[in-house]
Amino acid sequence: MLLNLISASLLAVPALALPHTGLGVSKRQDCPAPGQAAGATELPDPFTNSAGTPITTAAEFTCRQQELFQLFQDSELGEKPGAPESVTASASGNGLTINVSNGGSSISFSVSISYPSGGSEPYPAIIAYGFPSIPVPAGVATITFNNDDIAAQQNTGSRGRGKFYDLYGSDHTASAMTAWAWGVSRIIDALEATPNARINPERIGVTGCSRNGKGAFIAGAFDERVALTLPQESGSGGSACWRLSDEQKRQGQNVQTASQIITENVWFSRAFEQYVNDVTQLPVDHHELAALVAPRGLYVIENTDMEWLGNWSCYGCMVAGHKIYEALGVPDNMGFSQVGGHNHCQFPGAQNEELNAFITKFLLDGDANTAVMRTDGNLQFDEAQWCPWEVPTLA
Ligand SMILES: *[C@@H]1O[C@H](CO)[C@@H](O)[C@H](O)[C@H]1NC(C)=O
Ligand SMILES: *[C@@H]1O[C@H](CO)[C@@H](O)[C@H](O)[C@H]1NC(C)=O
Repeated sequence: MLLNLISASLLAVPALALPHTGLGVSKRQDCPAPGQAAGATELPDPFTNSAGTPITTAAEFTCRQQELFQLFQDSELGEKPGAPESVTASASGNGLTINVSNGGSSISFSVSISYPSGGSEPYPAIIAYGFPSIPVPAGVATITFNNDDIAAQQNTGSRGRGKFYDLYGSDHTASAMTAWAWGVSRIIDALEATPNARINPERIGVTGCSRNGKGAFIAGAFDERVALTLPQESGSGGSACWRLSDEQKRQGQNVQTASQIITENVWFSRAFEQYVNDVTQLPVDHHELAALVAPRGLYVIENTDMEWLGNWSCYGCMVAGHKIYEALGVPDNMGFSQVGGHNHCQFPGAQNEELNAFITKFLLDGDANTAVMRTDGNLQFDEAQWCPWEVPTLA
């Protein structure tokens, strides 16, 4: 019944009329209409579309990405509205003020830009939710994004509060994470329109830690202009898979699950609530967030010994996600690094070299070795059980 509703709503929308929200003009093409979206006990097969057709070419995979984008919005995250009627911006000093108008309403928000002392203009930049909790290297600017101003995240009572909802209405389906992703897209719009901000909009990274790490992952998945996605300790709701986190919970570990997360905050949509007690009904899982970021740069930073994040779930989920990069012939464009022995959101020096390699390659146009898939937890993930699907060659 639930799945029928989803497929009906997908079928009602011709493929070319899918709301364009950032997966990008260049990728829009005539894709087959999405079919029935099936749930599964194992991680859903990213290489078979919901009509049951195997994906065999890169062009078909682009259509699959559009379908996954729609499925994530419908089942977990709510709608990310397309480009608003007007986005104007002005840069002065370290500030960038962004005005957005749509449907007779307007909002204004500001971000602050910290310019590097070295490097060259226009600078690459990392958009940090809240504040950066990773070290940003020389030559790269930091843009501080007050995401809570766009959508509040105090508790379950925060739904519909923040500037996004002032513009689109407090009953809009977008979850807080989708509203923040929309905000990141508007920052990039503003940078494109404002050369005197001295930032290169084609060399943008996005990061955040913990709840904001979940959000940063969604922002990178939902706008293909993000060159490098850097979710830090995002855990369940970010780099972990719902099905795998439930498995850890079944084994008695104190791991955040879908059924818990909806009682804590408004990071996910109301529609997600109907799946949380049986996540096998979800048409997607979070390895397919990596599918949306691919083939762009993705470096997933995790913490092995913080139980709540779900160390095995994050690892297995991103091993599954990495298969998409392998299929596309760019395995080193995605890294996963899970290191314990430090506090939550305290970036350990042991990951510095890897982080710098990803930034060098994707934001500074340099050469660097980004082949990183590691956990210090000696975790065993049974791929035959959890991702029994064939990995095609799409390159
Ligand atoms: C943004 O809106 C404010 C207040 O309405 C206005 O003063 C400012 O000129 C606008 N800036 C731009 C760049 O549109
Ligand atoms: C991984 O998390 C589990 C609890 O979920 C914990 O028992 C185990 O020690 C963790 N592994 C490491 C290496 O910290």
